[in-house]
Parts: sequence; structure tokens; C-alpha cells
Amino acid sequence: MFSFMSAVVLAALLGSTLAAPSSPATSSPADSLVGQLRLAPTAEARVALLANDSQFTFNFFDNADTATTGAGGKIVLANAATFPAVVGNGAAMAVGFLDACSMNTPHTHPRATEIQFNVNGTIRTGMITENNARFIMTELKPGGMTIFPEGSIHFQINEGCEPALFVSGFNSEDPGALQVAQRFLGLSPDIVAATLGDIGVEAVEGLDEIIPDNVAIGTDECLQRCGITRPTQPTLQRQTRVSGNAFPSGVTASVWATNSAGSASAKPTKSA
Ligand SMILES: *[C@@H]1O[C@H](CO)[C@@H](O)[C@H](O)[C@H]1NC(C)=O
Ligand SMILES: *[C@@H]1O[C@H](CO)[C@@H](O)[C@H](O)[C@H]1NC(C)=O
Repeated sequence: MFSFMSAVVLAALLGSTLAAPSSPATSSPADSLVGQLRLAPTAEARVALLANDSQFTFNFFDNADTATTGAGGKIVLANAATFPAVVGNGAAMAVGFLDACSMNTPHTHPRATEIQFNVNGTIRTGMITENNARFIMTELKPGGMTIFPEGSIHFQINEGCEPALFVSGFNSEDPGALQVAQRFLGLSPDIVAATLGDIGVEAVEGLDEIIPDNVAIGTDECLQRCGITRPTQPTLQRQTRVSGNAFPSGVTASVWATNSAGSASAKPTKSA
């Protein structure tokens, strides 16, 4: 029998490969409730399953444990896993806490369009919806709103010297997130190297290890203007290496001197 425990053990063996870094663990206490909600024959039955009125509330200021966190801030997401009351309703919400000079790095949502409302600060957003479509940039003042169509690559950057806050609504209870740099550089090294031209597998190795976790620190210009020193950033959200995307044995990125925190201390140079 493929029991719940063997599923847990299997998930542990597979590490974080299956779980997107921005998603909460799949073994949350809400799991069995979400399962019951998904099996409920009617919306009325779902309301009955959510017997306590408190199950219809979610506090974005008090859910740091489920947040996607980096050196630049955090994204807190109320989705089917963290807020089961959305099950069956096709909606989710995120709140972005962007510290001064920080960025929600380029990503897509595989299952939802996002509408983003800017609460305070000024947030610059950028987006590309598909091949051949032009790049779109916005600068959102407090009260401003923009839209990121499902599947579009987009980012949000706070270039102010104060923290900024945004609220995003999604038309899916499970919008998902796919970080462009972390996922691309976690593909098979020969494919990544060939995609980038002729830089070679050696130059590719080490690139994914220096990508900072989301929310990341933003531009040098902002940091200088605001008098902020670029901190060391965690780099844990990279793609797990399995046999399919492992580096060929013998390949070492010797040109990449990295410190213990995984930050680059040297620019890459193409090995001869
Ligand atoms: C409803 O949930 C709240 C918060 O979790 C809890 O304090 C309260 O005891 C619950 N009420 C019932 C009737 O279960
Ligand atoms: C925006 O609101 C957050 C939360 O109250 C606060 O921490 C931050 O300083 C505010 N930023 C600005 C620019 O007012």
C-alpha cells in the first residue's frame, strides 16, 4: 500500500525537487482538510466543512512561516494550501513585502493571471507576455494597479529607500510560481550552455549557485542612492540536481571562486 507515510518518506528522499521554493510544504496540517474540500459534492458542503468562522480569515502580517523569503523581503501567499477556504473558488492572494531596493525576481505564474495593487512606495514592474510581444514597464504609485497575464514573465522592484507593499489577486486557488533564472540555470548543463551560445558547460556550472533567493536585493544604483550596503544573500532556492540535470563528472567551475555563502567573489571568465 502506498501509504501517507511512504509518500512523506518519498518526498523527503526527493528533497525539494518536487516542491517549488515559493510553495509551502505539501504536508501541512491543512492537507486532509483540502482533500475533503476537493471531494465535497457542493459548495454548500464545503462551507459545512469549514465549521469555524476563523477559517475564513488569513492574516498576511502573521504568516511569515509560509512566506517565500530572501534578503530583500518576502512574499506571503494565501492559496489552497495556506488558506483552504479558497478551494473551489478559483482565487488566491499574495502580499509582497519589498524592502528598500529589493526585487521580486523575474517569474511566471503557470496557472493564473495576476492583478497587482500598489499599497505604498513606488514599485516598478516589467513584463513580457510571449515571444515577439514588446516589453512593458510600469511605475506604480500608491493606489496604482497593473496586470500580468497568465504565463507572462514579470518582476516587481522597489527602487525607493523605504519598504513598499503590494497586494496581488490571482484567478486560481493554486497560481504557482516559476522563477526564470533559478529554473533555467537548473536545466541540464549541456542544454543551458548550448542555449547561451558557446560559453561552455564549465562556465555554466556555478551560475545557479550564485542566484539569490527571492525576494532579492535590487540594483546597485538604488543601494548607492539609499546608502545601503549589498548584504550577503541566501542561495537556497536553486533547482535540485538529479541525474537528469547533473553536471558531467570532471566538470568544475574553477573560474568561479565562491565564498561560503555561495556569493560570487569573481566574475566568470570563459575557460580556454
Ligand atoms: C475557532 O478557531 C479559533 C482560532 O483558531 C479558536 O480559538 C476557537 O476555539 C475555535 N472555535 C471553535 C468553536 O472551534
Ligand atoms: C508601507 O507599509 C509598510 C507596512 O505598514 C511599512 O512597513 C512601510 O514602511 C510603508 N512604506 C512606505 C513607503 O510608506
